[in-house]
Amino acid sequence: MEDLTQQRLARKIDLIRTLSLTKPHPSPKASLEQYTLPPDIAATIGYVAAYTFGDIIGKTVLDLGCGTGRLALAASFLGARQTVGIDIDKIAIRIASENFAETGLKNPVDWVLGDINAIKGSFDTILQNPPFGVQKRAADRKFLEKALEVAHTTYSLHNHPYNDPDLANRLKSVKGRFIQVSPTPFIQKLVEANNGVIKAVYAILMSIPHMFDFHRKRKLEFVADLYLIKKSDG
Ligand SMILES: C[S@@+](CC[C@H](N)C(=O)[O-])C[C@H]1O[C@@H](n2cnc3c(N)ncnc32)[C@H](O)[C@@H]1O
Repeated sequence: MEDLTQQRLARKIDLIRTLSLTKPHPSPKASLEQYTLPPDIAATIGYVAAYTFGDIIGKTVLDLGCGTGRLALAASFLGARQTVGIDIDKIAIRIASENFAETGLKNPVDWVLGDINAIKGSFDTILQNPPFGVQKRAADRKFLEKALEVAHTTYSLHNHPYNDPDLANRLKSVKGRFIQVSPTPFIQKLVEANNGVIKAVYAILMSIPHMFDFHRKRKLEFVADLYLIKKSDG
């Protein structure tokens, strides 16, 4: 019989609380852009994917570059049938697996240590926060290409292309909610070249603690863009 327990609306505050139990990466490498998504942002992305667009409950979900696992864990919490998280970093995968145990989630997550190139097959939904390419130009390119190869629907977080204080102020005033913006020509071209179509781009204000020596402030605040992408034939 179908299990309906996960199909009730989960409370976002409970998801944030659960993700707050999880540990971030203890020794992040700048070269891999290993910053950890704040719990509220991971929860917001999962929540929108689940309840605004119906892309999580009962679905197979893949988190490319899962780090310590918050997006994959959000998918499991929200009722994904099966979730896979893959990361190239051994410590990240070990912490992700410990985080899964700590949260006591029931919907299974497979943690894979490896390069995203190793992923084959087909998934309903991707939730990903790839390296933005701040350290290595266009590092997010291969994540988008892999996402479009293996999934119908992708939620992918990217750097907002330029400093926009007005947008940042508007995002502050809407407190944790999205504001719809336009795609960058680079991502638009890349998605179209890989048989994808961008359905929407949502800007969100991110705030992460100081992590690397080149971070001058205690807290880094910046705008990121969440792309909702579909395969053209999907
Ligand atoms: C910005 S972090 C995001 C971590 C996590 N998804 C989160 O949002 O908290 C990007 C992650 O991608 C991983 N990564 C970078 N290149 C990779 C590759 N080629 N294959 C697999 N993982 C990779 C890094 O180790 C890092 O954990």
